Amino acid sequence: MIEFRNVTKSYKSNEVLKNINFTIYDGEIVVLIGPSGCGKTTTLKMINRLIEPTSGEILINGENILEKDPIALRRSMGYVIQQTGLFPHMTVRQNIEVIPKLEKKPASEISQNTQRLMKMVDLDPEKFLDRYPIQLSGGQLQRIGVARAFATNPDIILMDEPFSALDPITRSGLQDALVSLQTRMKKTIVFVTHDMDEAVKIADRICIMYQGDILQYDKPEEILKNPAHGFVSEFVGKNRIWSNPEYIRADDIMITAPVTTEADIPMFKCMEKMRLQKVNSLMVVDQMGRLVGVVKAAHILRAADREAPVEKVMVQPKLTAKPETSIVELLQMVRRYDVSSIPVVDRENILRGLVTNTSLVTALSNQFLDEEMIEQLGEVEV
Ligand SMILES: Nc1ncnc2c1ncn2[C@@H]1O[C@H](COP(=O)(O)OP(=O)(O)OP(=O)(O)O)[C@@H](O)[C@H]1O
Ligand SMILES: [Mg+2]
Repeated sequence: MIEFRNVTKSYKSNEVLKNINFTIYDGEIVVLIGPSGCGKTTTLKMINRLIEPTSGEILINGENILEKDPIALRRSMGYVIQQTGLFPHMTVRQNIEVIPKLEKKPASEISQNTQRLMKMVDLDPEKFLDRYPIQLSGGQLQRIGVARAFATNPDIILMDEPFSALDPITRSGLQDALVSLQTRMKKTIVFVTHDMDEAVKIADRICIMYQGDILQYDKPEEILKNPAHGFVSEFVGKNRIWSNPEYIRADDIMITAPVTTEADIPMFKCMEKMRLQKVNSLMVVDQMGRLVGVVKAAHILRAADREAPVEKVMVQPKLTAKPETSIVELLQMVRRYDVSSIPVVDRENILRGLVTNTSLVTALSNQFLDEEMIEQLGEVEV
């Protein structure tokens, strides 16, 4: 765990970080993002003491890093920068093995580890280990930079715009590689970028910085849905949530007070309720609010005795969703099961809301539709 407590940094009278407070949890990728000059690199370099705070403190696992040996501290972390910082006069192998050798690890162990790291970043060791940095492409260089950062198996890895100089395809490939590495390695990674798409793709938490302040520090979906500040929503971009539809959940778009009845109510009363509320079905719930069935007007119209309780004709819902079910799954459900609405229940089966075709279409049409969604929607009967 890395904690920033009341950290400031000034150069003469210029305060470039103003009282920064945040905590980076173990095993998470935290992305620092914000406009040029907002203090991202300064914040990052404070973690390995390349820059020291003017006031405040930084704790790693509860210990103030100013009380640690700076060289040992730096070696205990991986560090990747934009131009990789590879030594040009050393081969790929020598670059990766610099610190493990300084640490006097056994030669066979180092060499095995290097092979493993090359495979990890998807480069053929045979082909690349003896090359010099100048003989590699930008994407290959960055892969080596990443491999080197993992070489001492550090708990913390700092990355300052490691992929920003790359073309979009190479960049996207490296982002995928990092995410998949992270699922296996569970490092604590602090990653600086300018690019919101990159942040959303890789981050467990995003820290939005502006002029030396943190404006918002939260999970990507929270930032996309509830930007805390005018600048944040501008920075994030209004429609960006729609390029990440998996973050839109049933409870964002459902009707929160669907019309309900209880099972012992006579059918004619239910009919009356539907007429008054202008709906053609009711959710049947018990006294605890748990969903026990669904009744449609058509069921009642077919019944002989409308004095009888509605439970005689109600049916089990074909399917239900959870509040956290994504809009993508909801669209698939609607398509696959040909239903016009989906009750939303929580873990105790308590009815929380109702997603209808209308609420889906309204949610979508209020926003920009991406092509895949239009395609899915095309097959939904509304
Ligand atoms: N050694 C220094 N002396 C004086 N000012 C500095 C120094 N280093 C950084 N700054 C200033 O501190 C502010 C924050 O710089 P920092 O490098 O952290 O920004 P950044 O968010 O990483 O920007 P970029 O996205 O352009 O990399 C900037 O205004 C910069 O000019
Ligand atoms: Mg920077």
